Amino acid sequence: MGGSRSMIFADCSSSTTARLIPFGRSRLLCGGGALCARRRLHVGVGPSLPASLRTTLTVHSSPSPSLPVMNVSCSATMASEASAKVIDGKAVAKQIRDEITGEVSRMKDAIGVVPGLAVILVGDRKDSATYVRNKKKACQSVGINSFEVHLPEDTSEQEVLKHISVFNDDPSVHGILVQLPLPCHIDEQSILNAVSMEKDVDGFHPLNIGRLAMRGREPLFIPCTPKGCIELLHRYGFDIKGKRAVVIGRSNIVGMPAALLLQREDATVSIVHSRTKNPEEITRQADIIISAVGQPNMVRGSWIKPGAVIIDVGINPVEDAKSPRGYRLVGDVCYKEACEVASAITPVPGGVGPMTIAMLLSNTLTSAKRVHNFQ
Ligand code: GUN
Repeated sequence: MGGSRSMIFADCSSSTTARLIPFGRSRLLCGGGALCARRRLHVGVGPSLPASLRTTLTVHSSPSPSLPVMNVSCSATMASEASAKVIDGKAVAKQIRDEITGEVSRMKDAIGVVPGLAVILVGDRKDSATYVRNKKKACQSVGINSFEVHLPEDTSEQEVLKHISVFNDDPSVHGILVQLPLPCHIDEQSILNAVSMEKDVDGFHPLNIGRLAMRGREPLFIPCTPKGCIELLHRYGFDIKGKRAVVIGRSNIVGMPAALLLQREDATVSIVHSRTKNPEEITRQADIIISAVGQPNMVRGSWIKPGAVIIDVGINPVEDAKSPRGYRLVGDVCYKEACEVASAITPVPGGVGPMTIAMLLSNTLTSAKRVHNFQ
């Protein structure tokens, strides 16, 4: 195994060092043992990466002290000024939240219905708890009701299924989200299958993903992070039709649905992953790059076609002695170098992260409108 793996994925450049510092747990692995191989499949580029590189794909916003922190740096080599336009996900997400606030209030006034989101969290992962807290706060900020069930790490699959079933039957709940990853002993597939397709605001139900993949079929919901990426491209007026797009990473949560969405927008799409032989060469052909690989600073300036638009989904903690927390967040793309080549780029933080939660709120509102036939 590993003979044909791209070296660039294992070590993005000779001037970078990747080092995990051993505080806290991995973000992706439930304990990291072989028992959890299944867990590795749903995020990141799959089980083929070396263990030290499998632990960093983060598609959410804020960090937690339980994250592994990598020491990976990149810097601009040319003296020229940065020229890329900054795609401000934070500002766009705020605008979307304001729009949702208006719609929630209009619906409440007109038919007396308030959208509701149920979140199920199993276990004690600090990062997951932070994400759930942020989702609840965001619901509150736009007037959506939120319901949380927090279950202990050793909860049985049956018990989780029971809670899903209750939420499936509750008319005040319009969206159900089971925070991933789940503890190892719980089968993620059977949990995602159990969420009613009509309340699957994560868009992870196989029928929703299946419809996303099919021409002429419409999913009820689109996964939030890739939906946020496309929304940014739309709101900034970037053409997608006929463009060459490269998605880096093939996770179920981001890379795979992002590639499907770009294809639905009539882009010509390539997916670059850990087994791709010439990732740099393929990426350099792209007019649009969506990177969701969880490798700090992996995409260097030399990977980027002049004028490309870059959506960086990675949120990777890297060591930073100057920061009070001892780390800072960087994307998959070397920002400084990319700014000198690309025409536009999302920053990290403040790019895709805030859009993910905005899309979750949007999906929940859509669900409530759909069930009550409210236009
Ligand atoms: N874990 C990481 N990203 C996500 C997401 O978008 N939805 C859920 N439910 N869990 C996640």
